[in-house]
Amino acid sequence: MSPLHVVILAAGQGKRMRSALPKVLHRIGGRPLLEHVISAARALGPERVHVVYGHGGDQVRDALGATEIGRDVSWIEQAERLGTGHAVAQAMPAVADEAMVLVLFGDVPLVRTETLAAVVERARESGLALLTVELEDPTGYGRILRAEDATVRAIVEERDADATTRAVREINTGILAVDATRLRGWLDRLDNRNAQGEFYLTDIIAMAVDAGVTVRTAAPTGPAEVLGVNDRSQLAELERHFQAGEARRLMAAGATLMDPARVDVRGEVEVGQDVVIDVNVVLEGNVSIGDGVQIGPNVVVRDSRIDAGACILANSLVEEAQVGAGCRVGPFARLRPGAVLAAEVHIGNFVEVKNSNIGVGSKANHLTYLGDSEVGAGVNVGAGTITCNYDGANKHRTVIGDGAFIGSGVELVAPVTVGEGATIGAGSTIGRDAPAGQLTLTRAPQVTRSGWQRPVKVPKK
Ligand code: UD1
Ligand code: CA
Repeated sequence: MSPLHVVILAAGQGKRMRSALPKVLHRIGGRPLLEHVISAARALGPERVHVVYGHGGDQVRDALGATEIGRDVSWIEQAERLGTGHAVAQAMPAVADEAMVLVLFGDVPLVRTETLAAVVERARESGLALLTVELEDPTGYGRILRAEDATVRAIVEERDADATTRAVREINTGILAVDATRLRGWLDRLDNRNAQGEFYLTDIIAMAVDAGVTVRTAAPTGPAEVLGVNDRSQLAELERHFQAGEARRLMAAGATLMDPARVDVRGEVEVGQDVVIDVNVVLEGNVSIGDGVQIGPNVVVRDSRIDAGACILANSLVEEAQVGAGCRVGPFARLRPGAVLAAEVHIGNFVEVKNSNIGVGSKANHLTYLGDSEVGAGVNVGAGTITCNYDGANKHRTVIGDGAFIGSGVELVAPVTVGEGATIGAGSTIGRDAPAGQLTLTRAPQVTRSGWQRPVKVPKK
């Protein structure tokens, strides 16, 4: 079978985005539009993926080239934007001779791999296949002209179409697959004698028909798959389509979404069974959520793992953290990078944890900062405890042994170690190691001054 070469057209300026960022770098579901297209194409196992770039091309190359998905892309510059036919022609020197060429648009991000596979399959039967769809309102698109026997004769661009042709509702999505050898010949013969003065790729259809090729068509599962992004309203619209799909995927995997329209997925998110996700939850990056996890309203989870049965209560932020089975986090908790909670840990309201391991069953329920610390199992950290990890120049570690009890309002001035089973009296500032099993405290003696009077306000002169 001939090798598959994918050519993604992405040289458009995207003027209507009104943006310094090239259009294809705008994001849907947290990933650049172009990345969606490349990954849909990659899933077909092509020999090569070519991206034709123009305006802001270096930015596009830098952004995508750095990712796993954009690694082996062949980058082709289209210095002048002379039309879709001209754009494809720029890529042809890099396309293998007997390849099957699949043409995609960098600003049509939601197209599914299965749909693309169908287009390629049809093209392998006849030499040329188009992805077409019927729209309620076909305005702006190239129309598919069919003969009486329903065979495709040509594509006519809206601006070159008469009233009868404009009435046709079957449109060209722009996505097509074509035999490379024939494509080369047809591209050589394109001209730009049309309303826009461009070299239209779509003109190859009539050439193919003249050459006796039966042009096949395939259809997407729905119009949303082939919608393009030209402005920010369309970007927002496609974001909603994408999110609806992600919500369906999470539900199919066994999650209950209190409102599927109020969960946003911006990355690779895996959920187990019987997960419950409340409203306004944002899941970003690599997130894995175990069976039976409950996530309250207004929670953000980024690049984190949450194990079975854990509960993240309202308004918590979990970033680059690991939450063990059965943990209880929040409400209003903040887990920062490197927070690793073993099973059954409780992190309560207004508690911040950074770069710290917290042992099984330990609790820090209120108003606390644990940074650069090693907390054993069964530790109780009282309200208002602070690990003073930063001396203004360097960070230091705090170590708290198993079963220790830290009273409320304690400052642990790192580097410092609290031994196993130690108790630290409330309000202490601990700057030296506290021995295991004993009570350690620092506390100024309490005094009461008899006869002391509150200051009174001096009347203004
Ligand atoms: C094109 C099709 C039209 C189809 C529509 C679907 C042609 C002539 N017309 O029209 O039949 O209904 O898409 O959306 O192909 N691009 C380049 N270099 C260029 C020109 C375009 O890379 O010189 C890229 C654009 O960035 C874009 C894509 O090709 O991703 C389509 O270009 P655009 O100008 O939007 O084509 P349309 O006029 O919409
Ligand atoms: Ca377009």
